[in-house]
Formats: sequence, C-alpha cells, structure tokens
Amino acid sequence: MELNDLETLVRSRRSIRRWQDKPVPVELLTRAIDLATWAPNGGNKQNWIFYVIVNGNTIRSIAEEVQNSTNLMASWPEAAQFVKDVARWRERAGFFRSAPAAIAVAASQYVSEADRILSAREKTDLQASQMRLWRNTANTKIQSAASAIAYLLLALHQMGLGAVWMTGPMQAKGKLEKILGVPSEMDLIAFVPVGYPDENPVVRPRRPVNEVCQIIT
Ligand SMILES: Cc1cc2nc3c(=O)[nH]c(=O)nc-3n(C[C@H](O)[C@H](O)[C@H](O)COP(=O)(O)O)c2cc1C
Repeated sequence: MELNDLETLVRSRRSIRRWQDKPVPVELLTRAIDLATWAPNGGNKQNWIFYVIVNGNTIRSIAEEVQNSTNLMASWPEAAQFVKDVARWRERAGFFRSAPAAIAVAASQYVSEADRILSAREKTDLQASQMRLWRNTANTKIQSAASAIAYLLLALHQMGLGAVWMTGPMQAKGKLEKILGVPSEMDLIAFVPVGYPDENPVVRPRRPVNEVCQIIT
C-alpha cells in the first residue's frame, strides 16, 4: 500500500448517520473487528469485547433506551437554559434506530503492576497518590479500546460501509449493558451503528497541522 492510498482512506472517512435498508454481512463486521484487534493496546491485554448486533429489534430497543434517557434529561429544570440544544438532542437521540447493524464496545479494567504498587501506597505517600492520579488521567482502558475503534472505523470504511463512533448512548449505559448481556466486570464504552451509507456528509474541517503540532528541538 502506498502512503497516498492510506491518506485517501483516512481523509475520505466520514461519520455516517444514515444507512441504506440493506443488511450487512456478519463476516464483514467480524473481519473488521479482527483488524481492529491489531490496534496497539495497553500491555497487549486486549481488554475488550465487541458485540455485533444485526438484530433490528435489539438496535431499536437500544435506541429507545437512549431516547428515554434523553427525554428524562430534557425534562429536568437544569435543562431549561439549553432549550435549543435539548430540542436538538431529543430529535436526534435515537437516530440510529434504522441502522442495519451496530457494534458495541465494552472494556474491562486495566490494572498494571505499576497501578498495583501505587494503589498499595497512595494513602500514605503523596507522591504515589500524585502518580496514580496522573496515570488515571491517561486512562489505559479507554485509550486501548479507542485505538481499536479508530482501526475499526477505517476497516469498515475500506469495506464500503459507513459508521459513527458514539459515546452519547452511554448515558443509558446500565440499560444497554442489560440488553447486550455485558458482564459486570466490563464497561460499555462506545456504540457504533454501521451500514451501507445513504448520505455523503460534508467534510468536518480539521485544524491545520501547524496549529496542532509543536516541534520540540
Ligand atoms: C469519542 C467520540 C465520541 C463521539 N460521540 C458521538 C455521538 O455520541 N453522536 C454522534 O452523532 N457522533 C459522535 N461522534 C462522532 C463525531 O461527531 C465526529 O467524529 C466528528 O464530528 C468529526 O466528523 P467525521 O468523523 O465525519 O470526520 C463521536 C466521535 C468520537 C471520537
């Protein structure tokens, strides 16, 4: 593969939120997940599970739970100051109910030897507690799963599929975990509806590289 090909793949991927009414072969989804598992991940613990959902009723149940939790949030007095945003969320919350497939990603705790040392010492040693805090802000569990999701989206895109990485549905996490049967030691961290694209969204621009890049010499 030439660098140009990779560049084209990366630059042409869009978040897709409308899909054709056409089933997605499970083999394609599992092949994309297989590729995603080659993503770099903390300690190579591969502490993830990918739930492949091709049952429309299950996707609709998930969308309904997300819609319910959004409606609940919208009903609270604290939401009154964000009327416009709340109205938009309510309208959009369950947009993925029509997706022909979805992949939900769950991750389990990542506990390294360093974490064990620090957690044994943090109560009595300020430096240990600071180090633990710093390590926690760079959460390995989430970063590892996120790295796999980024690979997953590129693999799906190369297959001609369109997907969107979503964390919004996590506001109904408990309900979603119950529907999917996620074990208690794992946390659902993202939901990725997938299908053949039925839209060609405008490019969301990126900040120029010289603005986001600092060369340290
Ligand atoms: C961690 C994360 C969470 C996201 N959550 C949502 C979401 O809940 N709903 C949604 O519609 N898009 C979500 N997105 C998609 C972003 O809005 C999208 O990637 C961004 O606007 C850039 O557009 P592009 O992916 O088409 O380049 C999420 C993306 C990431 C990486």
